[in-house]
Amino acid sequence: MLESKVIHEKKQGTALMKNIDGPVHKKVYIESYGCQMNFSDSEIVASILQDIGYATTKDIKSANLILINTCSIREKAEQTVRRRLNVFRATKNKNTTIGILGCMAERLKSKFLEEEKLVDLVVGPDAYRDLPNLLKEVDGGRKAINVILSKEETYADLSPVRLDKNGITSFVSIMRGCDNMCSFCVVPFTRGRERSRKPETIVDEIQELENNGYKEVTLLGQNVDSYLWTGGGLKKNFKTLSLKEQKNSMNFAQLLELVAKKTSMRIRFSTSHPKDMTDEVLYTMARHKNICKYIHLPVQSGSSKVLKLMNRGYDREWYLNRIKSIKEIIPECGISMDIITGFCQETERDHQDTLSLMKKVKYDFGYMFKYSERPNTLAERKYEDDVPELKKSKRLKEIIDLQQKHSLENNLKYIGKVCKVLIEGYSKKSDKDLCGRNTQNTVVVFPKENAVIGSIVNVKITKCTSGTLLGQII
Ligand code: SAH
Ligand code: SF4
Ligand code: F3S
Repeated sequence: MLESKVIHEKKQGTALMKNIDGPVHKKVYIESYGCQMNFSDSEIVASILQDIGYATTKDIKSANLILINTCSIREKAEQTVRRRLNVFRATKNKNTTIGILGCMAERLKSKFLEEEKLVDLVVGPDAYRDLPNLLKEVDGGRKAINVILSKEETYADLSPVRLDKNGITSFVSIMRGCDNMCSFCVVPFTRGRERSRKPETIVDEIQELENNGYKEVTLLGQNVDSYLWTGGGLKKNFKTLSLKEQKNSMNFAQLLELVAKKTSMRIRFSTSHPKDMTDEVLYTMARHKNICKYIHLPVQSGSSKVLKLMNRGYDREWYLNRIKSIKEIIPECGISMDIITGFCQETERDHQDTLSLMKKVKYDFGYMFKYSERPNTLAERKYEDDVPELKKSKRLKEIIDLQQKHSLENNLKYIGKVCKVLIEGYSKKSDKDLCGRNTQNTVVVFPKENAVIGSIVNVKITKCTSGTLLGQII
């Protein structure tokens, strides 16, 4: 059915009303879990649905279509989604369609439809362009599924609809998939093989954000350091390229350089992989003022034995050498990590190695997890999940406590110093205070005074906690 839509357009202070023909405005509610990539994908989904007449809504009750963009990284993440589905069971009426997107869709495929009867639609991360067709199937009374992983899909030409926006910070995907096969990780199975996105489309999307008033962009990928544009398709090994192909290719350091020159926005990126992070990237960061001095460099473990079992592709010495390079080339760089505690065969001694590595690096902050066995991963097939739950918890607590101590020590060093802070919005606790992050990615909170959200201000740090710097604009 076609209906005339009324659009309110503000032009030079006057509200104009314009009639255009198009499909009925339906409403989609999207809830996202997992990594930034998933949140970024939800914006791609919103864009695809917008083209077929869906507007996004934050009110679940008014939605015709409810989508959950899911994460499979740990068992807990999947349990959260199952619990949400139980809540949706109460909201669903016969006209609401419920769809599962993302990594759980890809991992469980049609099993999801069997296990959760209220779900109508299951769509994997590379199949979002098929949503209009799949929704037609559902309208016809059938269940619909597409979980085909792609060798090409990067959604390069799509202009994402910015959801949950503060209008200041945003994400742009530069690659998809992961070829690393860390033995604990489900991502290569849910996201498929590694593909890099065409540089021009990345630059275009970033410039569009800048034109729309955004001030910071984070380049996203499971392993951004492995970015390599060679004209499309699956990731190729640089060494196997002809000389001409090598000359025409673009690696991550070159992409960073290009982006830094083409925009004056602040630039961040995530995630870096220690085995692929080159000094060339570090020198590029050091050269450009608008590239933030912050690196998230997941270590996972401080024990070379465990790193080998994890199939991470580096050992303790290699990792510490990468840290040494960061500290030499970008002395003021903020560094954070991910650590998994209680991985298969991890002994007390391996755990002590992790604590001692942390003491050497003194991370600014970190994300720490208990190992959660994931179906079909190499670790699940080959190793026993043999560290008892209580031990995992005890080790995790020791790691978290040590990290808190380091975070506080690092934050105390800022007292009396001045940080450049991009103001992202009001602080969570009070609308008299604003908050933002310094270049090292540490959160800074300060009284509002006359400052404007979206501007960069100098804040003198006077106090801190382990998580936040507090100060005053000077
Ligand atoms: N691509 C990124 C990590 C993506 S997943 C990288 O390689 O660094 C984010 C984090 O989740 C990982 O760094 C790891 O610390 C954690 N993680 C992944 N699989 C896990 C598992 N099976 N159990 C517990 N934590 C896990
Ligand atoms: Fe998972 Fe390893 Fe790939 Fe990160 S690099 S997504 S941990 S397989
Ligand atoms: Fe989760 Fe998939 Fe991201 S498993 S962490 S949503 S890539």
